[in-house]
Amino acid sequence: MAHSSPPQPRSIAPRGPLTGTLTVPGDKSISHRSLMFAALAVGTSRISGLLEGEDVLATAAALRAMGATIERTGDGEWRVDGVGVGGLLQPAQALDMGNSGTSTRLLMGLVASHPITATFTGDASLSARPMGRVIEPLAQMGADITASPGGKLPLMVRGLTPAVPITYTLPVASAQVKSAVLLAGLNTPGLTRVVEPVATRDHSERMLRGFGADLTVEDSDAGRVITLRGEAELKPQTITVPGDPSSAGFWLVAASIVPGSDLVVRNVGLNPTRTGLIAALRLMGADITELDAREVGGEPVADLRVRHAPLTAIEVPPDLAPSMIDEYPVLFVAAAFAAGRTVARGAHELRVKESDRIAAMRAALEACGVPCEEYDDGLAVTGTGGGAIPGGATIASLLDHRIAMSMSVAGLHAAAPVAIDDASPVATSYPVFYQTLDAVTGA
Ligand code: S3P
Repeated sequence: MAHSSPPQPRSIAPRGPLTGTLTVPGDKSISHRSLMFAALAVGTSRISGLLEGEDVLATAAALRAMGATIERTGDGEWRVDGVGVGGLLQPAQALDMGNSGTSTRLLMGLVASHPITATFTGDASLSARPMGRVIEPLAQMGADITASPGGKLPLMVRGLTPAVPITYTLPVASAQVKSAVLLAGLNTPGLTRVVEPVATRDHSERMLRGFGADLTVEDSDAGRVITLRGEAELKPQTITVPGDPSSAGFWLVAASIVPGSDLVVRNVGLNPTRTGLIAALRLMGADITELDAREVGGEPVADLRVRHAPLTAIEVPPDLAPSMIDEYPVLFVAAAFAAGRTVARGAHELRVKESDRIAAMRAALEACGVPCEEYDDGLAVTGTGGGAIPGGATIASLLDHRIAMSMSVAGLHAAAPVAIDDASPVATSYPVFYQTLDAVTGA
Protein backbone atom coordinates (compact mmCIF):
# COMPACT_ATOMS: atom_id res chain seq x y z
CA MET A 1 0.00 0.00 0.00
CA ALA A 2 1.13 3.53 -0.71
CA HIS A 3 1.34 4.37 2.97
CA SER A 4 3.85 1.64 3.71
CA SER A 5 5.87 1.50 0.49
CA PRO A 6 9.18 3.39 0.28
CA PRO A 7 9.05 6.79 -1.48
CA GLN A 8 9.46 6.55 -5.24
CA PRO A 9 11.01 9.77 -6.54
CA ARG A 10 10.47 10.42 -10.24
CA SER A 11 11.69 13.05 -12.63
CA ILE A 12 9.70 13.96 -15.72
CA ALA A 13 11.79 15.50 -18.47
CA PRO A 14 10.05 17.43 -21.23
CA ARG A 15 8.96 15.06 -24.00
CA GLY A 16 7.66 15.08 -27.52
CA PRO A 17 4.08 14.60 -28.60
CA LEU A 18 1.68 12.00 -27.27
CA THR A 19 0.56 9.80 -30.12
CA GLY A 20 -1.12 6.45 -30.75
CA THR A 21 -3.75 4.75 -28.65
CA LEU A 22 -4.08 3.90 -24.99
CA THR A 23 -6.78 2.24 -22.93
CA VAL A 24 -7.71 3.65 -19.54
CA PRO A 25 -8.08 1.25 -16.60
CA GLY A 26 -11.38 0.46 -14.90
CA ASP A 27 -13.33 3.13 -13.09
CA LYS A 28 -12.34 3.37 -9.44
CA SER A 29 -15.80 4.30 -8.12
CA ILE A 30 -17.48 1.50 -10.06
CA SER A 31 -14.79 -1.02 -9.11
CA HIS A 32 -15.31 -0.41 -5.38
CA ARG A 33 -19.06 -0.69 -5.77
CA SER A 34 -18.84 -3.85 -7.92
CA LEU A 35 -16.99 -5.65 -5.16
CA MET A 36 -19.24 -4.35 -2.39
CA PHE A 37 -22.55 -5.12 -4.08
CA ALA A 38 -21.31 -8.50 -5.29
CA ALA A 39 -20.22 -9.28 -1.71
CA LEU A 40 -23.80 -8.59 -0.58
CA ALA A 41 -25.49 -10.62 -3.29
CA VAL A 42 -26.40 -14.26 -2.72
CA GLY A 43 -24.34 -16.31 -5.18
CA THR A 44 -21.49 -15.78 -7.61
CA SER A 45 -20.83 -12.50 -9.44
CA ARG A 46 -18.16 -12.03 -12.09
CA ILE A 47 -16.43 -8.74 -12.71
CA SER A 48 -14.22 -7.85 -15.65
CA GLY A 49 -12.19 -4.71 -16.15
CA LEU A 50 -11.82 -4.20 -12.39
CA LEU A 51 -9.29 -1.53 -11.46
CA GLU A 52 -6.52 -3.41 -9.68
CA GLY A 53 -5.23 -0.39 -7.79
CA GLU A 54 -4.41 -0.30 -4.09
CA ASP A 55 -7.64 1.49 -3.13
CA VAL A 56 -9.84 -1.18 -4.70
CA LEU A 57 -7.65 -3.96 -3.29
CA ALA A 58 -8.22 -2.44 0.17
CA THR A 59 -11.97 -2.80 -0.40
CA ALA A 60 -11.51 -6.41 -1.52
CA ALA A 61 -9.41 -7.26 1.54
CA ALA A 62 -11.97 -5.71 3.91
CA LEU A 63 -14.86 -7.59 2.31
CA ARG A 64 -12.90 -10.84 2.58
CA ALA A 65 -12.29 -10.10 6.24
CA MET A 66 -16.08 -9.84 6.60
CA GLY A 67 -16.81 -13.18 4.98
CA ALA A 68 -17.03 -12.69 1.21
CA THR A 69 -15.01 -14.97 -1.05
CA ILE A 70 -13.18 -12.84 -3.61
CA GLU A 71 -10.78 -14.30 -6.15
CA ARG A 72 -8.79 -12.89 -9.03
CA THR A 73 -9.30 -15.21 -11.98
CA GLY A 74 -7.35 -13.25 -14.64
CA ASP A 75 -6.21 -9.81 -15.69
CA GLY A 76 -8.95 -7.53 -14.31
CA GLU A 77 -11.20 -10.61 -13.95
CA TRP A 78 -12.64 -11.30 -10.53
CA ARG A 79 -15.11 -13.72 -8.99
CA VAL A 80 -17.07 -12.85 -5.87
CA ASP A 81 -19.21 -15.19 -3.78
CA GLY A 82 -21.43 -12.95 -1.70
CA VAL A 83 -22.74 -13.46 1.82
CA GLY A 84 -26.12 -11.79 1.23
CA VAL A 85 -27.41 -8.54 2.74
CA GLY A 86 -27.25 -8.98 6.52
CA GLY A 87 -24.62 -11.70 6.24
CA LEU A 88 -21.40 -9.80 6.86
CA LEU A 89 -19.27 -11.39 9.58
CA GLN A 90 -17.31 -9.83 12.39
CA PRO A 91 -13.79 -9.03 11.09
CA ALA A 92 -11.04 -10.48 13.26
CA GLN A 93 -8.77 -7.48 12.87
CA ALA A 94 -8.86 -3.77 12.11
CA LEU A 95 -9.68 -2.99 8.46
CA ASP A 96 -6.73 -1.23 6.83
CA MET A 97 -8.17 1.26 4.32
CA GLY A 98 -4.78 2.52 3.14
CA ASN A 99 -5.29 5.80 1.28
CA SER A 100 -8.89 5.17 0.27
CA GLY A 101 -11.69 7.49 1.37
CA THR A 102 -14.22 5.67 -0.80
CA SER A 103 -13.46 2.29 0.81
CA THR A 104 -13.71 3.81 4.28
CA ARG A 105 -16.91 5.77 3.91
CA LEU A 106 -18.86 3.18 1.94
CA LEU A 107 -17.78 0.27 4.14
CA MET A 108 -18.67 2.26 7.27
CA GLY A 109 -22.17 2.40 5.80
CA LEU A 110 -22.23 -1.35 5.29
CA VAL A 111 -21.04 -2.13 8.80
CA ALA A 112 -23.50 0.38 10.35
CA SER A 113 -26.54 -1.84 9.82
CA HIS A 114 -24.90 -5.23 10.42
CA PRO A 115 -24.56 -6.80 13.88
CA ILE A 116 -20.78 -6.46 13.83
CA THR A 117 -18.08 -4.08 15.04
CA ALA A 118 -15.24 -2.94 12.81
CA THR A 119 -12.24 -0.68 13.34
CA PHE A 120 -11.05 1.36 10.37
CA THR A 121 -7.45 2.52 10.02
CA GLY A 122 -5.61 4.28 7.22
CA ASP A 123 -2.46 6.08 6.13
CA ALA A 124 -1.50 9.61 7.19
CA SER A 125 -3.52 11.21 4.37
CA LEU A 126 -6.70 9.25 5.10
CA SER A 127 -6.30 9.75 8.86
CA ALA A 128 -6.46 13.52 8.30
CA ARG A 129 -9.75 13.41 6.37
CA PRO A 130 -13.15 14.24 7.86
CA MET A 131 -15.41 11.30 8.67
CA GLY A 132 -18.01 13.34 10.59
CA ARG A 133 -19.99 13.63 7.36
CA VAL A 134 -20.71 9.89 7.43
CA ILE A 135 -20.69 9.47 11.19
CA GLU A 136 -23.65 11.87 11.51
CA PRO A 137 -26.19 10.04 9.32
CA LEU A 138 -24.98 6.57 10.34
CA ALA A 139 -25.38 7.52 14.02
CA GLN A 140 -28.93 8.68 13.23
CA MET A 141 -29.53 5.18 11.87
CA GLY A 142 -28.38 3.76 15.19
CA ALA A 143 -24.73 2.89 14.66
CA ASP A 144 -22.42 3.56 17.59
CA ILE A 145 -19.28 5.19 16.24
CA THR A 146 -16.20 6.15 18.23
CA ALA A 147 -13.80 8.27 16.22
CA SER A 148 -10.45 9.88 16.91
CA PRO A 149 -10.54 13.61 17.80
CA GLY A 150 -12.05 15.72 15.02
CA GLY A 151 -14.08 12.80 13.65
CA LYS A 152 -11.03 11.15 12.09
CA LEU A 153 -9.55 7.67 11.69
CA PRO A 154 -8.82 5.39 13.44
CA LEU A 155 -12.46 4.86 14.31
CA MET A 156 -14.73 2.04 15.37
CA VAL A 157 -18.22 1.37 14.03
CA ARG A 158 -20.55 -0.82 16.09
CA GLY A 159 -23.47 -1.66 13.81
CA LEU A 160 -27.11 -1.90 14.86
CA THR A 161 -29.56 -4.50 13.52
CA PRO A 162 -32.26 -3.61 12.80
CA ALA A 163 -31.08 -0.08 12.04
CA VAL A 164 -33.45 2.88 11.82
CA PRO A 165 -34.44 4.10 8.35
CA ILE A 166 -33.87 7.84 7.85
CA THR A 167 -34.42 10.60 5.33
CA TYR A 168 -31.13 12.42 5.00
CA THR A 169 -30.46 15.64 3.12
CA LEU A 170 -26.80 15.85 2.14
CA PRO A 171 -25.15 18.92 3.70
CA VAL A 172 -22.19 18.56 1.28
CA ALA A 173 -22.29 17.36 -2.33
CA SER A 174 -20.73 13.95 -1.73
CA ALA A 175 -21.37 10.68 -3.51
CA GLN A 176 -19.51 8.92 -0.73
CA VAL A 177 -21.90 10.17 1.94
CA LYS A 178 -24.90 9.41 -0.25
CA SER A 179 -23.59 5.90 -0.88
CA ALA A 180 -22.76 5.27 2.79
CA VAL A 181 -26.38 5.98 3.75
CA LEU A 182 -27.75 3.86 0.91
CA LEU A 183 -25.45 0.97 1.78
CA ALA A 184 -26.57 1.17 5.42
CA GLY A 185 -30.14 1.25 4.10
CA LEU A 186 -29.71 -2.10 2.34
CA ASN A 187 -30.00 -4.00 5.63
CA THR A 188 -32.46 -1.58 7.27
CA PRO A 189 -36.20 -2.28 7.36
CA GLY A 190 -38.42 0.20 5.50
CA LEU A 191 -37.44 3.11 3.28
CA THR A 192 -34.11 4.90 3.50
CA ARG A 193 -34.07 8.20 1.67
CA VAL A 194 -31.27 10.50 0.58
CA VAL A 195 -32.00 13.96 -0.75
CA GLU A 196 -29.19 15.52 -2.73
CA PRO A 197 -29.62 19.22 -3.47
CA VAL A 198 -26.74 18.96 -5.96
CA ALA A 199 -26.42 15.83 -8.12
CA THR A 200 -23.26 13.79 -7.60
CA ARG A 201 -21.99 10.66 -9.34
CA ASP A 202 -24.85 8.18 -9.50
CA HIS A 203 -23.02 4.86 -9.83
CA SER A 204 -24.49 3.49 -6.59
CA GLU A 205 -28.03 4.15 -7.77
CA ARG A 206 -27.48 2.65 -11.21
CA MET A 207 -25.68 -0.40 -9.90
CA LEU A 208 -28.00 -1.13 -6.97
CA ARG A 209 -30.88 -1.20 -9.43
CA GLY A 210 -28.85 -3.52 -11.65
CA PHE A 211 -28.36 -5.84 -8.65
CA GLY A 212 -32.14 -5.94 -8.19
CA ALA A 213 -32.64 -3.48 -5.33
CA ASP A 214 -35.94 -1.58 -5.15
CA LEU A 215 -34.55 1.94 -5.62
CA THR A 216 -36.23 4.98 -7.15
CA VAL A 217 -34.92 8.42 -8.05
CA GLU A 218 -37.21 11.43 -8.32
CA ASP A 219 -36.55 15.10 -8.89
CA SER A 220 -38.11 17.47 -6.38
CA ASP A 221 -37.75 21.14 -5.40
CA ALA A 222 -35.28 20.03 -2.74
CA GLY A 223 -33.17 18.13 -5.29
CA ARG A 224 -32.81 14.46 -6.29
CA VAL A 225 -34.62 12.14 -3.91
CA ILE A 226 -33.28 8.59 -3.80
CA THR A 227 -35.47 6.05 -2.04
CA LEU A 228 -34.27 2.55 -1.24
CA ARG A 229 -36.39 -0.25 0.18
CA GLY A 230 -34.33 -2.06 2.78
CA GLU A 231 -33.79 -5.68 3.68
CA ALA A 232 -32.99 -5.93 0.01
CA GLU A 233 -32.09 -9.11 -1.77
CA LEU A 234 -29.29 -8.52 -4.25
CA LYS A 235 -28.91 -10.91 -7.16
CA PRO A 236 -25.44 -11.79 -8.43
CA GLN A 237 -24.37 -10.05 -11.63
CA THR A 238 -21.86 -10.18 -14.44
CA ILE A 239 -20.28 -6.73 -14.58
CA THR A 240 -17.97 -5.04 -17.05
CA VAL A 241 -16.36 -1.99 -15.49
CA PRO A 242 -15.99 0.92 -17.94
CA GLY A 243 -12.77 2.96 -18.08
CA ASP A 244 -12.23 5.73 -15.56
CA PRO A 245 -12.88 9.25 -16.89
CA SER A 246 -10.77 10.62 -14.03
CA SER A 247 -7.78 8.59 -15.24
CA ALA A 248 -8.52 9.63 -18.82
CA GLY A 249 -8.33 13.27 -17.71
CA PHE A 250 -4.54 13.18 -17.43
CA TRP A 251 -4.22 12.18 -21.09
CA LEU A 252 -6.79 14.69 -22.28
CA VAL A 253 -4.78 17.49 -20.70
CA ALA A 254 -1.37 16.05 -21.66
CA ALA A 255 -2.27 15.77 -25.34
CA SER A 256 -3.92 19.20 -25.31
CA ILE A 257 -0.78 20.95 -24.01
CA VAL A 258 2.08 19.10 -25.74
CA PRO A 259 2.50 20.40 -29.31
CA GLY A 260 2.02 17.84 -32.08
CA SER A 261 -0.02 15.43 -29.94
CA ASP A 262 -2.78 13.33 -31.49
CA LEU A 263 -3.95 10.60 -29.16
CA VAL A 264 -6.87 8.19 -28.92
CA VAL A 265 -7.90 7.41 -25.35
CA ARG A 266 -10.00 4.25 -25.43
CA ASN A 267 -12.74 3.07 -23.06
CA VAL A 268 -13.64 6.35 -21.36
CA GLY A 269 -16.74 6.27 -19.14
CA LEU A 270 -18.93 9.25 -20.00
CA ASN A 271 -21.56 9.14 -17.28
CA PRO A 272 -22.83 12.75 -17.27
CA THR A 273 -22.08 13.05 -13.54
CA ARG A 274 -18.37 12.59 -14.39
CA THR A 275 -17.71 14.59 -17.54
CA GLY A 276 -17.13 18.11 -16.17
CA LEU A 277 -13.45 18.14 -17.15
CA ILE A 278 -14.27 17.47 -20.80
CA ALA A 279 -16.80 20.30 -20.73
CA ALA A 280 -14.30 22.69 -19.12
CA LEU A 281 -11.49 21.76 -21.53
CA ARG A 282 -13.80 22.27 -24.48
CA LEU A 283 -14.70 25.72 -23.15
CA MET A 284 -10.94 26.41 -23.16
CA GLY A 285 -10.71 25.35 -26.80
CA ALA A 286 -9.53 21.75 -26.45
CA ASP A 287 -9.96 19.52 -29.48
CA ILE A 288 -11.69 16.40 -28.13
CA THR A 289 -13.93 14.22 -30.29
CA GLU A 290 -15.95 11.17 -29.32
CA LEU A 291 -15.57 8.00 -31.36
CA ASP A 292 -17.56 4.78 -31.22
CA ALA A 293 -20.08 5.85 -28.54
CA ARG A 294 -21.43 2.69 -26.85
CA GLU A 295 -22.69 1.33 -23.56
CA VAL A 296 -20.57 -0.73 -21.17
CA GLY A 297 -21.95 -2.08 -17.90
CA GLY A 298 -24.96 0.26 -18.10
CA GLU A 299 -22.75 3.34 -18.52
CA PRO A 300 -22.12 5.45 -21.64
CA VAL A 301 -18.59 4.93 -22.97
CA ALA A 302 -16.62 6.24 -25.96
CA ASP A 303 -13.09 6.49 -27.26
CA LEU A 304 -11.82 10.06 -27.23
CA ARG A 305 -9.50 11.53 -29.83
CA VAL A 306 -7.61 14.51 -28.45
CA ARG A 307 -5.28 16.71 -30.45
CA HIS A 308 -3.00 19.51 -29.29
CA ALA A 309 -4.85 22.82 -29.36
CA PRO A 310 -4.23 26.35 -28.14
CA LEU A 311 -6.10 26.81 -24.85
CA THR A 312 -7.70 30.00 -23.61
CA ALA A 313 -8.34 30.85 -19.95
CA ILE A 314 -11.90 30.57 -18.65
CA GLU A 315 -13.90 31.16 -15.52
CA VAL A 316 -14.68 27.56 -14.66
CA PRO A 317 -18.46 27.33 -14.14
CA PRO A 318 -18.91 26.39 -10.46
CA ASP A 319 -21.85 24.16 -11.35
CA LEU A 320 -19.38 21.81 -13.08
CA ALA A 321 -17.69 21.14 -9.71
CA PRO A 322 -19.51 17.92 -8.73
CA SER A 323 -18.89 16.35 -12.15
CA MET A 324 -15.16 17.16 -12.16
CA ILE A 325 -14.34 17.16 -8.46
CA ASP A 326 -11.33 14.85 -8.87
CA GLU A 327 -10.12 16.60 -12.03
CA TYR A 328 -9.31 20.08 -10.70
CA PRO A 329 -5.60 19.35 -10.18
CA VAL A 330 -5.14 18.43 -13.84
CA LEU A 331 -7.44 21.26 -14.95
CA PHE A 332 -5.09 23.65 -13.11
CA VAL A 333 -2.27 22.16 -15.18
CA ALA A 334 -4.21 22.84 -18.38
CA ALA A 335 -4.74 26.40 -17.12
CA ALA A 336 -0.96 26.80 -16.72
CA PHE A 337 -0.65 26.50 -20.52
CA ALA A 338 -3.70 28.57 -21.48
CA ALA A 339 -3.65 32.18 -22.64
CA GLY A 340 -4.82 34.31 -19.73
CA ARG A 341 -5.94 33.77 -16.17
CA THR A 342 -8.22 30.83 -15.41
CA VAL A 343 -10.30 31.16 -12.28
CA ALA A 344 -11.92 28.17 -10.57
CA ARG A 345 -14.09 28.89 -7.52
CA GLY A 346 -16.85 27.04 -5.69
CA ALA A 347 -14.69 23.96 -5.11
CA HIS A 348 -14.13 24.08 -1.36
CA GLU A 349 -14.30 20.27 -1.17
CA LEU A 350 -10.83 20.18 -2.77
CA ARG A 351 -9.47 21.05 0.66
CA VAL A 352 -10.47 17.65 2.10
CA LYS A 353 -9.35 15.23 -0.63
CA GLU A 354 -6.26 13.00 -0.38
CA SER A 355 -4.47 16.32 0.20
CA ASP A 356 -5.62 19.93 0.36
CA ARG A 357 -5.59 20.13 -3.43
CA ILE A 358 -5.92 23.90 -3.58
CA ALA A 359 -2.84 24.48 -1.42
CA ALA A 360 -0.96 21.53 -2.95
CA MET A 361 -1.48 22.64 -6.56
CA ARG A 362 -0.75 26.26 -5.77
CA ALA A 363 2.57 25.26 -4.16
CA ALA A 364 3.40 22.86 -7.00
CA LEU A 365 2.61 25.25 -9.85
CA GLU A 366 4.28 28.22 -8.18
CA ALA A 367 7.41 26.13 -7.64
CA CYS A 368 7.36 25.51 -11.41
CA GLY A 369 7.12 29.23 -12.14
CA VAL A 370 3.37 29.43 -12.78
CA PRO A 371 1.65 32.44 -11.11
CA CYS A 372 -1.31 31.41 -8.94
CA GLU A 373 -3.71 33.06 -6.55
CA GLU A 374 -5.30 30.98 -3.85
CA TYR A 375 -8.90 31.44 -2.72
CA ASP A 376 -10.70 29.76 0.10
CA ASP A 377 -12.69 27.74 -2.47
CA GLY A 378 -10.45 27.59 -5.50
CA LEU A 379 -7.46 28.80 -7.46
CA ALA A 380 -6.60 31.26 -10.20
CA VAL A 381 -3.79 30.22 -12.56
CA THR A 382 -2.09 32.44 -15.14
CA GLY A 383 -0.99 30.44 -18.15
CA THR A 384 1.86 30.72 -20.64
CA GLY A 385 -0.38 30.90 -23.69
CA GLY A 386 0.95 27.58 -24.92
CA GLY A 387 4.70 27.79 -24.29
CA ALA A 388 6.61 25.63 -21.81
CA ILE A 389 6.38 26.44 -18.12
CA PRO A 390 9.77 26.99 -16.40
CA GLY A 391 9.61 23.76 -14.32
CA GLY A 392 12.86 22.76 -12.59
CA ALA A 393 11.29 22.08 -9.18
CA THR A 394 10.68 19.13 -6.88
CA ILE A 395 7.00 18.69 -6.06
CA ALA A 396 5.63 17.24 -2.82
CA SER A 397 2.94 14.71 -3.79
CA LEU A 398 1.61 14.64 -0.19
CA LEU A 399 0.36 11.02 -0.49
CA ASP A 400 -1.98 12.24 -3.22
CA HIS A 401 -2.00 10.26 -6.48
CA ARG A 402 -3.67 13.04 -8.44
CA ILE A 403 -1.06 15.63 -7.43
CA ALA A 404 1.70 13.25 -8.57
CA MET A 405 0.05 12.50 -11.93
CA SER A 406 -1.05 16.08 -12.61
CA MET A 407 2.43 17.48 -12.03
CA SER A 408 3.93 14.68 -14.12
CA VAL A 409 1.72 15.93 -16.96
CA ALA A 410 2.96 19.49 -16.33
CA GLY A 411 6.54 18.23 -16.66
CA LEU A 412 5.89 17.06 -20.22
CA HIS A 413 5.99 20.66 -21.44
CA ALA A 414 8.43 22.37 -19.08
CA ALA A 415 11.76 24.07 -19.82
CA ALA A 416 13.44 22.02 -17.07
CA PRO A 417 12.41 18.64 -15.60
CA VAL A 418 9.74 18.44 -12.92
CA ALA A 419 10.57 16.03 -10.10
CA ILE A 420 7.96 14.32 -7.92
CA ASP A 421 9.26 13.54 -4.44
CA ASP A 422 7.15 10.38 -4.17
CA ALA A 423 5.15 8.90 -7.03
CA SER A 424 4.18 5.74 -5.11
CA PRO A 425 0.60 7.00 -4.42
CA VAL A 426 -0.10 6.66 -8.16
CA ALA A 427 -0.54 2.93 -7.47
CA THR A 428 -3.76 3.67 -5.57
CA SER A 429 -5.68 4.49 -8.77
CA TYR A 430 -3.49 4.06 -11.84
CA PRO A 431 -0.73 1.47 -11.35
CA VAL A 432 0.39 1.55 -15.02
CA PHE A 433 0.32 5.34 -15.45
CA TYR A 434 4.06 5.76 -16.04
CA GLN A 435 4.32 2.74 -18.36
CA THR A 436 1.47 4.19 -20.41
CA LEU A 437 3.17 7.59 -20.43
CA ASP A 438 6.35 6.00 -21.79
CA ALA A 439 4.37 4.11 -24.42
CA VAL A 440 2.51 7.13 -25.82
CA THR A 441 5.58 9.37 -25.82
CA GLY A 442 7.80 6.74 -27.45
CA ALA A 443 10.18 6.79 -24.46
C1 S3P B 1 -16.21 9.14 -4.96
C2 S3P B 1 -16.78 10.35 -4.64
C3 S3P B 1 -16.02 11.61 -4.57
C4 S3P B 1 -14.68 11.50 -5.26
C5 S3P B 1 -13.96 10.23 -4.92
C6 S3P B 1 -14.79 9.02 -5.31
C7 S3P B 1 -17.06 7.94 -4.98
O1 S3P B 1 -15.78 11.92 -3.22
O2 S3P B 1 -13.86 12.61 -4.92
O3 S3P B 1 -12.71 10.16 -5.57
O4 S3P B 1 -16.63 6.89 -5.52
O5 S3P B 1 -18.18 8.01 -4.48
P1 S3P B 1 -16.80 12.79 -2.33
O6 S3P B 1 -17.99 11.96 -2.05
O7 S3P B 1 -16.02 13.11 -1.09
O8 S3P B 1 -17.10 14.01 -3.15
